[in-house]
Amino acid sequence: MKHLIDPMDLSVQEIDHLLTVADDIILNKEKYQEVCRHKKLATLFFEPSTRTRLSFEAAMLELGGSILGFSSADSSSATKGESVSDTVRVVSGYADIIAMRHPKEGAPFAASRKLDVPLINAGDGGHNHPTQTLTDLMTIHQEKGRLNGFTIGMCGDLKFGRTVHSLIKALSRYEDIHFIMISPEELRLPEYIIKDVFEKKNISYREVKTMEEVMPELDILYMTRVQKERFFNEADYIRLKDSFILDERKLASAKKDLCIMHPLPRVNEISIKVDDDPRACYFKQALYGKYIRMALIMYLLGVSADEN
Ligand code: CP
Repeated sequence: MKHLIDPMDLSVQEIDHLLTVADDIILNKEKYQEVCRHKKLATLFFEPSTRTRLSFEAAMLELGGSILGFSSADSSSATKGESVSDTVRVVSGYADIIAMRHPKEGAPFAASRKLDVPLINAGDGGHNHPTQTLTDLMTIHQEKGRLNGFTIGMCGDLKFGRTVHSLIKALSRYEDIHFIMISPEELRLPEYIIKDVFEKKNISYREVKTMEEVMPELDILYMTRVQKERFFNEADYIRLKDSFILDERKLASAKKDLCIMHPLPRVNEISIKVDDDPRACYFKQALYGKYIRMALIMYLLGVSADEN
């Protein structure tokens, strides 16, 4: 039984396979439309989501399968005190595969133990978001044609941003990647990632406080939202939320083929005027999320279009 809890649960070869299948799905959609017939996906979201939940559901529907689930803890028996493990165990009798988001770090891992259907971590607190990482890898692969040999700037909330943490881990396995971490002091990348990933693997990285000072160097700019829900103190949130806003003026010194990414949702950290810039990739990124989740569902269920 294979679960996806951490981005490192997938080998580089498995990621290559998923990217190849996702590319093929884009080109040959009709080939995949019955692949998951009679299969059911449960989406158990104990925390809000637009893209992850709906792209998972769209993915399963486009594969010919069915969906069930809930979109908030309030509409589940968690409100009566049921444990996540019990919820997931029960749902495993109703569905062939489960995607689960939970505000507590480690909840999907705990829930996956002894489970006899695949469980996908759709985001756990400030910890990991492996299917966003697959989405990000697919975006980089589509836009740059490779997953090595580039400089990536990651900007905003690097402390609580699970998408940043997961993407750094995943990219640490590819060659010749230079990381530039752009954040205020209060939202710096956690020390454990600096030590366990950058220093342990001897990966090139540096930390800066403005995007302007590094903009001309970047091949990819990965923007993130300062997440209100991760702060304990509203005053800190209000003080920091507008720290890093990308606009046309800041982009003036950027490379012509810069790829601007954002896992979304955006609040105001990218000016809407940037949306019309051909370098803005974030809406395409959200769409790629559906295709890579289609490939992932097929992989974890052990089905392929060739069997049809
Ligand atoms: N990127 C992402 O996880 O978006 P949602 O919170 O809308 O799922």
